[in-house]
Amino acid sequence: MLTTDISKAKEALENDDLIAIPTETVYGLAGNAFSDSAVKKIFDLKQRPHYNPLIVHIPSVDFLNKVAKDIPPIALTLAQHFWPGPLTLVLKKQPTVPDMVTAGKDTVAVRMPDHALTLALLKELDFPLAAPSANPFGCISPSTAEHVYNYFHDTLPVILDGGPCQKGIESTIIGFENNEPILYRHGSLAIEDIENLIGPVKTNTLNNANPQAPGMLSKHYAPKTRTYLTDDIYKSLAEFEGKRIGVMMFRDKVTGKDIVHQEVLSLNGDMKEAARNLYKAMHILDHQELDVIIVEKFPDINLGITINDRLNRATKL
Ligand code: TXA
Ligand code: MG
Repeated sequence: MLTTDISKAKEALENDDLIAIPTETVYGLAGNAFSDSAVKKIFDLKQRPHYNPLIVHIPSVDFLNKVAKDIPPIALTLAQHFWPGPLTLVLKKQPTVPDMVTAGKDTVAVRMPDHALTLALLKELDFPLAAPSANPFGCISPSTAEHVYNYFHDTLPVILDGGPCQKGIESTIIGFENNEPILYRHGSLAIEDIENLIGPVKTNTLNNANPQAPGMLSKHYAPKTRTYLTDDIYKSLAEFEGKRIGVMMFRDKVTGKDIVHQEVLSLNGDMKEAARNLYKAMHILDHQELDVIIVEKFPDINLGITINDRLNRATKL
């Protein structure tokens, strides 16, 4: 049921049930992070492989000590600067965090989300919330409460409806090796913004053999419809002539072609707006019974890097 009533959400969570929560990035499928049985329900409902650990959502920077320890000074600087916000930190875990949350690792991924409803809820609870994105494994992430409902219907007693997500793409994930920051997943916080604060950050993203972070499985966030990423939209359109074609463009509408459905992510060429609209456009295109979705590659700067990362994963065969 869609609601804005956090007392219903609290009741369900205290009953060990799962709910959906809005965040500034995407909607999360949330349960009590300190409860083995709630965490198991998350993996079961999402059909998520057990080697893929969850993010723990906390109400404040001060709460960090309850789930993490030996926190590097740079991690604290990042938390103080960017929280609440779309940055996840991978830190040494406290024993209170169940092994299932962290997939048996000695580290835990933590963030303080920037959404008023969810922060109000977290502040009312005695426990943090484990929450992956609220989509079945491998599907497009949800950026509205309706997307969550379309996936899970009434299996969830509560879908907290916080409106469309303001950022629209998952958080950026940073870990630490020998106290040095490492980027594990591109996300809604541009890497340039992080580097402006703490200097250069090494990258260790795509690595299928050892999916350290997630989004690290190379095929992910994928529409069911065949999807192609291209540098040359008109050339690709010619290749698929005669098919039912859908198109997703950054800013320029394609004209004079026989296209069934077209989504333009930002008419002003604003990357933030494009990121916010990305998953919604993918959901819409995936419901048009198309033969193919053709997507124009983004400029490889700022959030364009994150958008291209998700598009690459969505278009892997
Ligand atoms: O924006 C977000 O991060 C959203 C919202 C709901 O907060 N959540 C999200 O969760 O994207 P999920 O489960 O779709 O992605 C979490 C990723 C996983 O792919 C996992 O690999 C990585 O976080 N992760 C979690 N714990 C980790 C750890 N201890 N070490 C490395 N990566 C970890
Ligand atoms: Mg996900």
